[in-house]
Amino acid sequence: MLVFKSVNELKQFLFQNKHKTIGFVPTMGALHQGHLSLINQSKNKAELTICSIFVNPIQFNKPEDLENYPRTIERDIQLLEDVACDVLFLPSVNEMYPTKQYKNYDFGTLATVMEGEHRPGHFNGVANVIERFFDIIQPTYAFFGEKDFQQLAIVKDLTKQLGLSTEIIGCPILRENNGLAMSSRNERLTAEERNRAAIIYRSLIQIKNNQKTSTIEQAKKMFKTAVEQEKMNLEYIEFADGTTLQPIKEWNETNYCVAFVTVIIGKVRLIDNLTIYSNVTSTP
Ligand code: PAF
Repeated sequence: MLVFKSVNELKQFLFQNKHKTIGFVPTMGALHQGHLSLINQSKNKAELTICSIFVNPIQFNKPEDLENYPRTIERDIQLLEDVACDVLFLPSVNEMYPTKQYKNYDFGTLATVMEGEHRPGHFNGVANVIERFFDIIQPTYAFFGEKDFQQLAIVKDLTKQLGLSTEIIGCPILRENNGLAMSSRNERLTAEERNRAAIIYRSLIQIKNNQKTSTIEQAKKMFKTAVEQEKMNLEYIEFADGTTLQPIKEWNETNYCVAFVTVIIGKVRLIDNLTIYSNVTSTP
């Protein structure tokens, strides 16, 4: 695997390979099987796969969250070698933001709910880094996990706003054996916390199975009680239309409903989502 730390070196390499299709997997490191599944999907679709590892400071709305974000670069490199990723791009903050000038985007109501509401500035930071990466790499395809469902919707919107031809591909959530969604942040959980966190997915499945016989309000209450019993705090649970991401109060307000949750366990913030029902033919 080739490793580039500078934009110029990566661009030179890309120029030499300009006739190849490029699959791009942006990450912040602390790689897990979920990331590796994105790399594998890229390898299946594109002639060259580029993974980036960059802990993007401007998408963190709390300094302690940035500081505590797990960093496991040696293990990450080994994992990428093992799946035969072609290129790792490992830029510094200065390489990514030489002028320190950031853009302000307007994603309308896509960015004012859920993660947008609870993490002010987060999606603007994500959009800045993705625009910069896309400008450097000009990928044919870019792969994003559906765990960050709202981020995926924002990136699709960004690509549309910028008129880019990059195809954005959403990839299914990978889960641990106990149902916990794979996440870099799981690195910071103790074994006991990982066990307790299993209630998140279990409760979402229960909501999905009982959807026809309970109201949204009842479902929210049940979820809150279940996570609190496992000594976790619920930041939010929303049921929203899977395309517009606008929260609903009654099931009949949409034919494509996704549950979105954020739970705090210890000092770790975990997000998850599950499609409760979908009567639409193609989902984002
Ligand atoms: O999902 C992530 O890991 C990050 O938000 C991303 C897409 C790599 C941008 O920094």
